Amino acid sequence: MKVGGKDYRTVWMSGSSVNFIEQNKLPFSFEIYEARTHADTCMAIKTMIVRGAGAIGASAGYGMAQAFLESDENMKYVDEAKRCLEATRPTAQNLFYAANRVYNSAAGSKKPARTALEEAQRIADEDAENCMRIGENGNMLIEDGFRIETHCNAGWLAFVDFGSALSPVYVAHRSGKNVFVYADETRPRSQGARLTAWELRNEGVPHAIIPDNAGAHCMSRGMVDMMIVGADRIAANGDTANKIGTYERAICAARFGVPFYVAAPTSTFDLDCETGDAIPIEERSEDEVLYQTGPDEEGVMRKVLVCSPGSGALNPAFDVTPAELITGIITEKGIIKPSEEAVRSLFS
Ligand code: MRU
Repeated sequence: MKVGGKDYRTVWMSGSSVNFIEQNKLPFSFEIYEARTHADTCMAIKTMIVRGAGAIGASAGYGMAQAFLESDENMKYVDEAKRCLEATRPTAQNLFYAANRVYNSAAGSKKPARTALEEAQRIADEDAENCMRIGENGNMLIEDGFRIETHCNAGWLAFVDFGSALSPVYVAHRSGKNVFVYADETRPRSQGARLTAWELRNEGVPHAIIPDNAGAHCMSRGMVDMMIVGADRIAANGDTANKIGTYERAICAARFGVPFYVAAPTSTFDLDCETGDAIPIEERSEDEVLYQTGPDEEGVMRKVLVCSPGSGALNPAFDVTPAELITGIITEKGIIKPSEEAVRSLFS
Protein backbone atom coordinates (compact mmCIF):
# COMPACT_ATOMS: atom_id res chain seq x y z
CA MET A 1 0.00 0.00 0.00
CA LYS A 2 1.11 3.57 -0.51
CA VAL A 3 2.07 6.06 2.18
CA GLY A 4 2.79 9.56 0.89
CA GLY A 5 2.91 8.18 -2.66
CA LYS A 6 5.53 5.52 -1.82
CA ASP A 7 4.90 1.76 -1.76
CA TYR A 8 5.41 0.12 1.62
CA ARG A 9 5.04 -3.29 3.14
CA THR A 10 4.42 -3.47 6.89
CA VAL A 11 7.56 -5.54 7.44
CA TRP A 12 10.48 -6.31 5.14
CA MET A 13 14.05 -7.51 5.29
CA SER A 14 17.12 -5.66 4.02
CA GLY A 15 20.54 -7.27 4.52
CA SER A 16 20.34 -8.92 7.93
CA SER A 17 17.93 -6.32 9.35
CA VAL A 18 14.16 -6.57 9.63
CA ASN A 19 12.37 -3.27 9.09
CA PHE A 20 8.98 -2.42 10.53
CA ILE A 21 6.54 0.42 10.20
CA GLU A 22 6.58 1.52 13.86
CA GLN A 23 2.93 0.95 14.78
CA ASN A 24 3.19 2.38 18.30
CA LYS A 25 3.96 5.77 16.72
CA LEU A 26 1.03 5.73 14.30
CA PRO A 27 -1.11 7.69 13.54
CA PHE A 28 0.89 10.59 14.96
CA SER A 29 4.16 9.94 13.18
CA PHE A 30 5.32 7.57 10.45
CA GLU A 31 8.63 5.97 11.37
CA ILE A 32 10.57 2.85 10.45
CA TYR A 33 12.12 0.68 13.16
CA GLU A 34 15.16 -1.38 12.18
CA ALA A 35 15.71 -4.67 14.05
CA ARG A 36 19.35 -5.65 13.56
CA THR A 37 19.21 -8.99 15.40
CA HIS A 38 16.62 -11.65 16.11
CA ALA A 39 16.53 -10.33 19.71
CA ASP A 40 15.50 -6.90 18.38
CA THR A 41 12.81 -8.60 16.30
CA CYS A 42 11.51 -10.45 19.39
CA MET A 43 11.34 -7.13 21.22
CA ALA A 44 9.52 -5.48 18.28
CA ILE A 45 6.85 -8.21 18.30
CA LYS A 46 6.46 -8.17 22.08
CA THR A 47 6.21 -4.39 22.40
CA MET A 48 3.79 -4.18 19.47
CA ILE A 49 6.00 -2.15 17.17
CA VAL A 50 4.62 -4.78 14.79
CA ARG A 51 1.22 -6.34 15.42
CA GLY A 52 -1.59 -8.16 13.69
CA ALA A 53 -1.72 -11.80 12.59
CA GLY A 54 0.13 -11.86 9.27
CA ALA A 55 2.59 -9.10 10.17
CA ILE A 56 3.58 -10.97 13.32
CA GLY A 57 3.92 -14.17 11.27
CA ALA A 58 6.17 -12.59 8.65
CA SER A 59 8.23 -10.96 11.40
CA ALA A 60 8.69 -14.29 13.17
CA GLY A 61 9.80 -15.88 9.89
CA TYR A 62 12.34 -13.12 9.31
CA GLY A 63 13.41 -13.33 12.97
CA MET A 64 14.13 -17.05 12.52
CA ALA A 65 16.14 -16.22 9.40
CA GLN A 66 18.15 -13.67 11.42
CA ALA A 67 18.81 -16.36 14.04
CA PHE A 68 20.14 -18.76 11.37
CA LEU A 69 22.36 -15.96 10.00
CA GLU A 70 23.71 -15.16 13.47
CA SER A 71 24.13 -18.78 14.58
CA ASP A 72 27.22 -19.95 12.71
CA GLU A 73 25.24 -23.20 12.36
CA ASN A 74 24.99 -23.62 16.13
CA MET A 75 21.54 -25.21 16.49
CA LYS A 76 21.40 -24.52 20.24
CA TYR A 77 21.47 -20.82 19.39
CA VAL A 78 18.73 -21.24 16.79
CA ASP A 79 16.54 -23.28 19.16
CA GLU A 80 16.87 -20.61 21.85
CA ALA A 81 15.96 -17.90 19.33
CA LYS A 82 12.87 -19.89 18.30
CA ARG A 83 11.79 -20.13 21.94
CA CYS A 84 12.30 -16.39 22.33
CA LEU A 85 10.17 -15.61 19.26
CA GLU A 86 7.42 -18.05 20.24
CA ALA A 87 7.17 -16.54 23.72
CA THR A 88 6.25 -13.09 22.40
CA ARG A 89 2.54 -13.36 21.45
CA PRO A 90 0.85 -16.63 22.53
CA THR A 91 -2.46 -16.30 20.65
CA ALA A 92 -1.03 -15.41 17.22
CA GLN A 93 -1.12 -18.62 15.17
CA ASN A 94 0.78 -17.07 12.26
CA LEU A 95 3.78 -16.61 14.54
CA PHE A 96 4.06 -20.35 15.21
CA TYR A 97 3.22 -21.17 11.59
CA ALA A 98 6.07 -19.01 10.26
CA ALA A 99 8.67 -19.85 12.92
CA ASN A 100 8.09 -23.60 12.37
CA ARG A 101 8.10 -23.30 8.59
CA VAL A 102 11.44 -21.46 8.48
CA TYR A 103 12.97 -23.68 11.15
CA ASN A 104 11.88 -26.94 9.48
CA SER A 105 13.01 -25.89 6.02
CA ALA A 106 16.45 -24.65 7.15
CA ALA A 107 17.37 -27.05 9.95
CA GLY A 108 18.18 -29.97 7.66
CA SER A 109 19.49 -27.94 4.75
CA LYS A 110 23.07 -27.72 3.48
CA LYS A 111 22.93 -23.91 3.49
CA PRO A 112 20.69 -23.20 6.49
CA ALA A 113 21.02 -19.41 6.55
CA ARG A 114 20.24 -18.99 2.87
CA THR A 115 17.37 -21.50 3.02
CA ALA A 116 15.92 -19.72 6.07
CA LEU A 117 16.06 -16.35 4.31
CA GLU A 118 14.37 -17.72 1.20
CA GLU A 119 11.62 -19.43 3.19
CA ALA A 120 10.96 -16.33 5.31
CA GLN A 121 10.68 -14.23 2.16
CA ARG A 122 8.31 -16.80 0.64
CA ILE A 123 6.07 -16.59 3.72
CA ALA A 124 5.95 -12.79 3.50
CA ASP A 125 5.18 -12.85 -0.24
CA GLU A 126 2.48 -15.49 0.22
CA ASP A 127 0.91 -13.41 2.98
CA ALA A 128 0.60 -10.41 0.65
CA GLU A 129 -0.76 -12.54 -2.22
CA ASN A 130 -3.25 -14.37 -0.02
CA CYS A 131 -4.54 -11.11 1.40
CA MET A 132 -5.10 -9.81 -2.11
CA ARG A 133 -7.16 -12.92 -2.89
CA ILE A 134 -9.12 -12.49 0.34
CA GLY A 135 -9.95 -9.01 -0.93
CA GLU A 136 -11.19 -10.32 -4.26
CA ASN A 137 -13.25 -13.09 -2.62
CA GLY A 138 -14.71 -10.80 0.04
CA ASN A 139 -15.54 -8.09 -2.49
CA MET A 140 -18.16 -10.45 -3.98
CA LEU A 141 -20.17 -10.06 -0.76
CA ILE A 142 -20.12 -6.26 -0.82
CA GLU A 143 -22.92 -4.37 -2.54
CA ASP A 144 -22.73 -0.77 -3.67
CA GLY A 145 -23.64 1.49 -0.75
CA PHE A 146 -22.75 -1.07 1.96
CA ARG A 147 -21.88 0.19 5.43
CA ILE A 148 -19.39 -2.23 6.96
CA GLU A 149 -18.35 -2.43 10.59
CA THR A 150 -14.96 -3.79 11.60
CA HIS A 151 -13.24 -4.37 14.92
CA CYS A 152 -9.57 -3.80 15.74
CA ASN A 153 -7.12 -3.51 12.88
CA ALA A 154 -7.16 -6.17 10.22
CA GLY A 155 -5.98 -3.93 7.43
CA TRP A 156 -2.63 -3.92 5.65
CA LEU A 157 -0.69 -2.90 8.77
CA ALA A 158 -1.78 -6.19 10.37
CA PHE A 159 -0.37 -8.20 7.43
CA VAL A 160 2.49 -7.79 5.01
CA ASP A 161 0.15 -5.97 2.61
CA PHE A 162 -3.58 -5.44 1.80
CA GLY A 163 -4.92 -6.92 5.06
CA SER A 164 -7.66 -9.43 5.79
CA ALA A 165 -10.91 -7.77 6.94
CA LEU A 166 -10.13 -4.50 5.15
CA SER A 167 -8.86 -6.09 1.95
CA PRO A 168 -12.42 -6.65 0.58
CA VAL A 169 -13.20 -3.03 1.48
CA TYR A 170 -10.17 -1.78 -0.45
CA VAL A 171 -11.05 -3.91 -3.50
CA ALA A 172 -14.68 -2.71 -3.38
CA HIS A 173 -13.63 0.93 -2.99
CA ARG A 174 -11.08 0.74 -5.81
CA SER A 175 -13.64 -0.91 -8.08
CA GLY A 176 -15.90 2.10 -7.69
CA LYS A 177 -18.41 0.81 -5.15
CA ASN A 178 -19.54 3.23 -2.48
CA VAL A 179 -18.55 1.74 0.85
CA PHE A 180 -18.55 3.26 4.30
CA VAL A 181 -16.70 1.75 7.27
CA TYR A 182 -17.53 1.95 10.95
CA ALA A 183 -14.22 1.37 12.75
CA ASP A 184 -14.71 0.20 16.33
CA GLU A 185 -12.37 2.19 18.55
CA THR A 186 -11.05 -1.09 20.11
CA ARG A 187 -10.02 -0.26 23.63
CA PRO A 188 -7.62 -0.58 25.31
CA ARG A 189 -4.95 -0.22 22.59
CA SER A 190 -7.30 1.62 20.21
CA GLN A 191 -6.15 -0.24 17.09
CA GLY A 192 -9.40 0.75 15.36
CA ALA A 193 -9.20 4.43 16.23
CA ARG A 194 -5.51 4.67 15.49
CA LEU A 195 -4.51 2.12 12.86
CA THR A 196 -7.70 1.24 10.97
CA ALA A 197 -8.78 4.88 10.79
CA TRP A 198 -5.30 5.94 9.62
CA GLU A 199 -5.32 3.28 6.88
CA LEU A 200 -8.82 4.14 5.70
CA ARG A 201 -7.97 7.83 5.54
CA ASN A 202 -4.79 7.02 3.66
CA GLU A 203 -6.84 5.05 1.10
CA GLY A 204 -9.62 7.65 0.92
CA VAL A 205 -12.32 5.28 2.19
CA PRO A 206 -15.18 7.16 3.93
CA HIS A 207 -15.41 6.05 7.55
CA ALA A 208 -16.25 6.95 11.13
CA ILE A 209 -14.66 5.76 14.36
CA ILE A 210 -17.31 4.54 16.79
CA PRO A 211 -16.88 3.83 20.51
CA ASP A 212 -16.87 0.09 21.17
CA ASN A 213 -20.13 0.39 23.08
CA ALA A 214 -21.98 2.14 20.21
CA GLY A 215 -22.16 -0.96 18.02
CA ALA A 216 -25.51 -2.31 19.23
CA HIS A 217 -27.10 1.09 18.82
CA CYS A 218 -25.80 1.41 15.24
CA MET A 219 -27.00 -2.08 14.32
CA SER A 220 -30.39 -1.56 15.96
CA ARG A 221 -30.91 1.52 13.76
CA GLY A 222 -30.12 -0.45 10.60
CA MET A 223 -26.87 1.46 10.06
CA VAL A 224 -24.68 -1.62 9.46
CA ASP A 225 -25.05 -3.94 6.43
CA MET A 226 -22.31 -6.40 7.31
CA MET A 227 -19.46 -6.90 9.72
CA ILE A 228 -16.00 -8.18 8.74
CA VAL A 229 -13.31 -8.90 11.34
CA GLY A 230 -9.87 -10.49 11.23
CA ALA A 231 -8.62 -13.49 13.21
CA ASP A 232 -5.60 -14.32 15.30
CA ARG A 233 -6.30 -18.06 15.40
CA ILE A 234 -9.10 -20.22 14.02
CA ALA A 235 -9.81 -23.64 15.51
CA ALA A 236 -10.69 -26.71 13.46
CA ASN A 237 -14.42 -26.21 14.14
CA GLY A 238 -14.37 -22.55 13.03
CA ASP A 239 -14.31 -20.97 16.51
CA THR A 240 -12.29 -17.78 16.04
CA ALA A 241 -9.97 -15.89 18.38
CA ASN A 242 -9.76 -12.21 17.56
CA LYS A 243 -9.25 -8.93 19.42
CA ILE A 244 -11.15 -8.62 22.69
CA GLY A 245 -14.66 -7.36 22.04
CA THR A 246 -15.18 -9.33 18.82
CA TYR A 247 -17.41 -11.88 20.57
CA GLU A 248 -19.73 -9.13 21.82
CA ARG A 249 -19.99 -7.70 18.31
CA ALA A 250 -20.89 -11.16 16.94
CA ILE A 251 -23.64 -11.53 19.54
CA CYS A 252 -25.04 -8.13 18.51
CA ALA A 253 -24.82 -9.01 14.83
CA ALA A 254 -26.82 -12.20 15.45
CA ARG A 255 -29.41 -10.22 17.44
CA PHE A 256 -29.95 -7.77 14.59
CA GLY A 257 -29.50 -10.17 11.64
CA VAL A 258 -26.29 -8.50 10.40
CA PRO A 259 -24.02 -10.96 8.46
CA PHE A 260 -20.84 -11.49 10.47
CA TYR A 261 -17.77 -12.51 8.47
CA VAL A 262 -14.25 -13.44 9.54
CA ALA A 263 -11.47 -12.82 6.98
CA ALA A 264 -8.21 -14.73 7.38
CA PRO A 265 -5.59 -16.59 5.35
CA THR A 266 -5.29 -20.34 5.84
CA SER A 267 -2.04 -19.73 7.77
CA THR A 268 -4.23 -18.51 10.67
CA PHE A 269 -6.02 -21.86 11.08
CA ASP A 270 -4.78 -24.20 13.78
CA LEU A 271 -6.14 -27.69 13.21
CA ASP A 272 -4.48 -28.87 16.42
CA CYS A 273 -7.04 -26.77 18.32
CA GLU A 274 -10.25 -28.75 17.92
CA THR A 275 -12.34 -25.93 19.38
CA GLY A 276 -11.78 -22.38 20.58
CA ASP A 277 -11.41 -23.62 24.17
CA ALA A 278 -7.90 -24.82 23.29
CA ILE A 279 -6.74 -21.40 22.02
CA PRO A 280 -4.42 -19.67 24.52
CA ILE A 281 -5.57 -16.15 25.33
CA GLU A 282 -2.86 -13.56 25.89
CA GLU A 283 -3.16 -11.43 29.04
CA ARG A 284 -1.54 -8.03 28.70
CA SER A 285 -0.42 -5.41 31.20
CA GLU A 286 -3.10 -3.58 33.19
CA ASP A 287 -1.31 -0.34 32.24
CA GLU A 288 -2.85 -0.61 28.76
CA VAL A 289 -6.28 -0.15 30.37
CA LEU A 290 -5.27 2.40 33.00
CA TYR A 291 -3.21 4.75 30.81
CA GLN A 292 -3.54 6.27 27.36
CA THR A 293 -0.74 7.72 25.26
CA GLY A 294 -1.05 10.50 22.72
CA PRO A 295 0.22 13.95 21.76
CA ASP A 296 -0.63 16.93 23.96
CA GLU A 297 -1.61 20.32 22.50
CA GLU A 298 2.05 21.05 21.72
CA GLY A 299 2.43 17.70 19.98
CA VAL A 300 4.57 16.16 22.74
CA MET A 301 3.71 12.48 23.38
CA ARG A 302 2.32 12.00 26.89
CA LYS A 303 1.17 8.95 28.82
CA VAL A 304 -1.75 9.88 31.05
CA LEU A 305 -3.77 8.02 33.68
CA VAL A 306 -7.40 7.73 32.53
CA CYS A 307 -8.81 5.67 35.42
CA SER A 308 -9.41 6.07 39.10
CA PRO A 309 -5.95 6.20 40.76
CA GLY A 310 -5.17 3.04 42.68
CA SER A 311 -7.65 0.78 40.84
CA GLY A 312 -6.34 -2.32 39.13
CA ALA A 313 -7.46 -3.69 35.74
CA LEU A 314 -7.90 -6.94 33.85
CA ASN A 315 -6.65 -7.00 30.27
CA PRO A 316 -7.37 -10.12 28.19
CA ALA A 317 -6.18 -9.26 24.67
CA PHE A 318 -8.43 -11.66 22.72
CA ASP A 319 -11.73 -13.51 22.94
CA VAL A 320 -13.16 -16.48 21.07
CA THR A 321 -16.26 -16.10 18.91
CA PRO A 322 -18.09 -19.43 18.62
CA ALA A 323 -18.49 -20.73 15.06
CA GLU A 324 -22.30 -20.67 15.34
CA LEU A 325 -22.20 -16.84 15.37
CA ILE A 326 -20.06 -16.60 12.23
CA THR A 327 -21.77 -16.33 8.84
CA GLY A 328 -18.69 -17.30 6.85
CA ILE A 329 -14.90 -17.23 6.76
CA ILE A 330 -13.30 -15.43 3.82
CA THR A 331 -9.99 -17.08 2.90
CA GLU A 332 -7.65 -16.89 -0.09
CA LYS A 333 -9.16 -20.21 -1.24
CA GLY A 334 -12.76 -19.04 -1.09
CA ILE A 335 -15.52 -18.34 1.43
CA ILE A 336 -16.37 -21.24 3.70
CA LYS A 337 -18.99 -22.01 6.33
CA PRO A 338 -17.45 -22.19 9.82
CA SER A 339 -17.81 -25.95 10.20
CA GLU A 340 -15.19 -28.59 10.87
CA GLU A 341 -15.89 -30.25 7.53
CA ALA A 342 -15.43 -27.01 5.60
CA VAL A 343 -12.32 -26.02 7.56
CA ARG A 344 -10.65 -29.40 7.05
CA SER A 345 -11.52 -29.38 3.35
CA LEU A 346 -9.39 -26.23 2.97
CA PHE A 347 -6.34 -28.35 3.79
CA SER A 348 -7.18 -31.57 1.96
O1 MRU B 1 -2.94 -7.33 19.67
P1 MRU B 1 -2.78 -6.96 18.24
O2 MRU B 1 -2.78 -5.49 18.00
O3 MRU B 1 -1.63 -7.64 17.59
O4 MRU B 1 -4.11 -7.48 17.60
C1 MRU B 1 -4.12 -8.12 16.43
C2 MRU B 1 -5.13 -7.63 15.57
O5 MRU B 1 -4.85 -6.73 14.80
C3 MRU B 1 -6.45 -8.18 15.67
O6 MRU B 1 -6.78 -9.11 16.57
C4 MRU B 1 -7.02 -8.40 14.33
O7 MRU B 1 -8.35 -8.14 14.37
C5 MRU B 1 -6.73 -9.76 13.78
S1 MRU B 1 -5.16 -9.85 13.12
C6 MRU B 1 -5.39 -9.27 11.55
